Amino acid sequence: MAIPQHTIDQILDRTDIVDLIGQRVKLKKTGRTYSGCCPFHQEKSPSFHVYRDKQYYHCFGCQANGNAIRFLMDIDNRNFVDVMKDLSSQTGIELPKDNQDSKRLSYKREAKTVAEPSKTAPVTPVQSPPTTELQIDHDPFEEFRNVDDPFAQFEPFQTFNEAPAQEGNLYDLLENVAQFYERQLPQSQSAQQYFRHRGLGVETIQFWRLGYAPEDWQHLEKAFPQDVQGLKLLGLIRTSDKGRDFDLLRDRVIFPIRDAKGRVVGFGGRALNDEIKPKYINSPDSEVFHKNQLLYGLYEGRKQKAQDWLMVEGYMDVIALQQNGIYGAVATLGTASNTEHLNILFKQNNRITIAFDGDAAGQKAARRTLEIALPLLNDGRELKFFVLPNDHDPDSLIRREGLENFQRLLQQAPLLSDFVFAHLTQNQDISSPEGKSLVMAELRQLTELLPKTGSFRYLLNQSFKEKLGFGKRWTPQLSNDASLSFNIRTKDEDFAIAILMHHPFLYIHFETLRAFVPSHELLSHILNILNRIFDNLPDDQELATYYVLGACSTFSLEIADIMRRTNIEVLTHAPEMADKLATEYALGLQEKYLRQKLKDPNSLLESRNLRQQLNELTKKIGLRLLS
Ligand code: UTP
Ligand code: MN
Repeated sequence: MAIPQHTIDQILDRTDIVDLIGQRVKLKKTGRTYSGCCPFHQEKSPSFHVYRDKQYYHCFGCQANGNAIRFLMDIDNRNFVDVMKDLSSQTGIELPKDNQDSKRLSYKREAKTVAEPSKTAPVTPVQSPPTTELQIDHDPFEEFRNVDDPFAQFEPFQTFNEAPAQEGNLYDLLENVAQFYERQLPQSQSAQQYFRHRGLGVETIQFWRLGYAPEDWQHLEKAFPQDVQGLKLLGLIRTSDKGRDFDLLRDRVIFPIRDAKGRVVGFGGRALNDEIKPKYINSPDSEVFHKNQLLYGLYEGRKQKAQDWLMVEGYMDVIALQQNGIYGAVATLGTASNTEHLNILFKQNNRITIAFDGDAAGQKAARRTLEIALPLLNDGRELKFFVLPNDHDPDSLIRREGLENFQRLLQQAPLLSDFVFAHLTQNQDISSPEGKSLVMAELRQLTELLPKTGSFRYLLNQSFKEKLGFGKRWTPQLSNDASLSFNIRTKDEDFAIAILMHHPFLYIHFETLRAFVPSHELLSHILNILNRIFDNLPDDQELATYYVLGACSTFSLEIADIMRRTNIEVLTHAPEMADKLATEYALGLQEKYLRQKLKDPNSLLESRNLRQQLNELTKKIGLRLLS
C-alpha cells in the first residue's frame, strides 16, 4: 500500500510524540525537553531525550533517533505499514484503500454504435442557451442550422461497433482527449496563427502539448462515443437545461494541465481573441483534478531540473518564460494561490519568488499572498517578491527585455524583509515618531502570523527598528589592546558564538548541536548557559544580548575578542541572513563533530548510528546547498 506523504504528515500532526513515548518510557520534564532512560540500550542515567516542538527523539548514548513512526517501528520491530495502520486507528485518519482508489477513477463505457452524425445533430432550433452559468449570450446550436453535416470533419477516435460495456479509467480518457486536442491543432489555421502571433515555436507547442478544441458543440462525443459518462465526470461534456449535451471547450486553444506525475488531469482553454468572454475556461475540479493542489508547470519545471521557482499568474507567462530559458515558473489554475500551492513550491526549494503586477490590484494580491506565506516561513525558508513594471506580465516583459535583462530584474527582487518594509512604509511619513509607531504596529500584525517557534519574527522586528532608527544597535565594547587578543585563527565555533551573542534567540538552531560540542570548547559552555536561560530571555534583542553577556561574564574577554575578529554585525545585517548563517554553522559544526566521533566510536552500534546520522545530516546540508 502506498501511503501518500500528506496522509503521513496528517497522522504525525495528530500524534504527540511525548504522549506516545511516555506510554513506554518513563519521561521527566527537564527544561524544554523530556528525558528518560533509553529503551534502545542499557543505561543507568537518562540520555534519551524527547522534543515536543520538533516531534523528535534522540538518545545521546546510543544515537537512536527519529519521529513517532520510527520509534514504534524500532521498539516493536514492526514494519512501516503495520505501524501506520495502528496510528491511523488511533488518530482516526484513514489510510487510502487500494480498491477504493481505483473505483473513484473508473466510469462505465457504453456499448454503443458510433453515432451517425446526422441523427444526433439537432434538427429543431433551440430557443434558449443551454446554461446560464457560462454566460453564453448566443444560441449555442445556431451554427448547426445552416450546416449540412457539421460533424463530417471528425473521425471518431475509436471505431468500435457494438463493443461490450466495460470500465474506463479517467486518466486514460484524459490522455486520449489531450491527444485528440493536439491532433486538432494542425487542422486549424486560426489556432496555429494564434500561437504564432503569441510567439510560440513548434518545439514549445509540443513540449507543453498545446492543442485546439474545435468549434463543434459535440466534438468530444463524436470522437469518444463510448466515453460520454467519463467525459461528463470530467466536466468536459455538460448538459444544458434542456437536457442536451455539449462540449465545455469550443474554438479555443488548449493548455493540458498535468499533475506532478505528468498525467493530464484537466484542461485550460483560451479564446482566440480578447473580445470573447470569458477569456479562459478551465475544466472543473473532478476526481483527478483538484485545482487548489496543483500548479501549472510544476511537472514540466521538474523535468527541466528547475532550481529557482517563480510563481506567476497565467499559463502563457509560464510558457513564454520556459521558451526563453527560464525554467521553474508555475501558475495557479485560475484560482488565487493558497497555502497548499506555496507549500508545494517550498518543497522544491527553500527560496521561492512570487511575481506581482506593479498596479494597485497587484499590491493587494501581494499583501494577500504575504499573509498566507508568513505562517509557512520557518526552517530558513525565503520568500522574494518580484514586482513587475506597470502594464507588464512576465510574458510581455521577457519578450520586451530578453532573457538577460529579465534575469537581472528577477535577481533584484527584494527579500521579504525589504519588501514588507517598502510595503508598510510607502504611505507613512517615517521621519515622524507617529509614522514610525504606525509602521511598527502594522508590522506587529504581520509578524503575529509568523511561526511562533522560529526566530524570524524577532529578527524582522529588530531589522525594522534599525531601519526606522529606533534606539541603537548593540555593538560590543571593543578593546584594541593587543594583549587581550587571543590571536587565534577564527574558527567556526567563534562565528557560532558571535551569532549567538548578537541574536541569542537563534539558539534554537543550535540546540541539537549542544550534545555534540566537546566540553572543553567555549561554545559548549555558552550553549549550556543559553539552554539554562533561554526561557527567560527578554523579548528585546538589545536587552537579550546584555542578559546573555551577563550570564557569560566568566568568558567576557574571550567573547569580546571573538566579536572583534568575526565582524558579525555586518554579516548578519539582513534578518534572513542571520537565520541562514545560524543554521549553516549549526549543521556544519554538527557534521564536524560527528566525523570526529566516528573516528573513535565506543561500540559497533554507536558507529552504525553515527554513520546513519552523518548520512542524514549530509543529505540535509546538501539540500540546503542546492537551495
Ligand atoms: P490574465 O487575464 O491575467 O491573462 O489571466 P494572461 O495570463 O495575461 O492571459 P493572456 O496573456 O491574455 O493569454 C491569468 C490567468 O487567470 C486565469 C487563467 O488561468 C489565466 O492564465 N483566468 C483568466 C481564468 O481562469 N479565466 C479568465 O477569464 C481569465
Ligand atoms: Mn498575458
